[in-house]
Amino acid sequence: MTETAPTTAPADDGFLRDLWYFGAIGRDVKPGKAIHREILGEPVLIGRTHEGKAFALRDICPHRGILLSTGQVVKRDGESQVECPYHGWRFRPDGGCAAIPSLTADQAAAMDLSKIRTRSYPVAERYGMIFVYFGRDPEAEPCVPPPVLDIPENSKIRMVETDIFNCHVDHAVIGLMDPAHIPYIHRQWWWRSAKSVHEKAKNFGPVERGFSMLPHKPSANSYVYRLFGGQRQTEIRFELPGLRTEYLRLGERHVTGFTAVTPTNANKTTITIVMYWDVPAMAVIPKALISKGIRTFVGQDRDAVNAQQKGLAYNPQLMLIHDADVQAKWYYKLKTAWEKHRTTGEPFRNPVKPATLRWTS
Ligand code: FES
Ligand SMILES: [Fe+2]
Repeated sequence: MTETAPTTAPADDGFLRDLWYFGAIGRDVKPGKAIHREILGEPVLIGRTHEGKAFALRDICPHRGILLSTGQVVKRDGESQVECPYHGWRFRPDGGCAAIPSLTADQAAAMDLSKIRTRSYPVAERYGMIFVYFGRDPEAEPCVPPPVLDIPENSKIRMVETDIFNCHVDHAVIGLMDPAHIPYIHRQWWWRSAKSVHEKAKNFGPVERGFSMLPHKPSANSYVYRLFGGQRQTEIRFELPGLRTEYLRLGERHVTGFTAVTPTNANKTTITIVMYWDVPAMAVIPKALISKGIRTFVGQDRDAVNAQQKGLAYNPQLMLIHDADVQAKWYYKLKTAWEKHRTTGEPFRNPVKPATLRWTS
């Protein structure tokens, strides 16, 4: 009567499972609506019930494969359900089939609809963002809590910028964290000038499933930081799967930039930058200017990794060289350690050891 096909992703896509990924900005998913996303090469519907609770489903109708997100979120029997646009099958936020309108009453009575389902993903909404958990086992509960930022949970999103890199997530992650490209790719006068290049030493240490460029006074050679004067400290944290948070702490206040590097599929990566701040001084800088600055910066990274694809197409041997590439090495080691932990069941061991890294940039 019903047949189901396996929905597991290829094991060799290089994407980590059993982790939370950025799904959507919360305000982009209105109550009683749903949107489509591709994440880890999977079609994902991110929806919200009429009461406001976010949910995520595999965005494929089990009947004949149309994207469920092209249908509607309807309210039936006091419950929000996703209605397929093709033949009207309805699905609950937990993925279970609630109705098949074409059945006669006796056919419906004889059929166990709960056996028909589309995968549902655990979701968590915090800091105005919706995170989606991609478990290797679709039925398993999340093995780690959703991402935690060092800001109040109800912090207001001040700005969102999105970009698409035409590369695998690994190249996007290491392209964004590598310090050696800064004087070459990001030359704008308001950030750093070519003359400001000098030797640097930064202290790093492990954090949960990642590492931190430990709190320090920002380099004096960045014009932007000078604006804030006084007591200031930055910290940059990276954690798996590809979440980078840059904190600028100004006494009790903060400017925080969260970057989610999310695999869309094997050749495409979505970069989402979410800004939070509670610093009154930020109000004097026009938002359009901040937005332009971020877009310029990320656009330069995008152009570099996109250009890199032309060379990578020949599958060259690559190098990771000295301290400037240690963060990239850590990223790969963290990935390996996570894979090992999830496949063997051994405790996760963070391979990062405290270190001072030195480079010229
Ligand atoms: S394809 Fe969805 S109900 Fe037929
Ligand atoms: Fe960059």
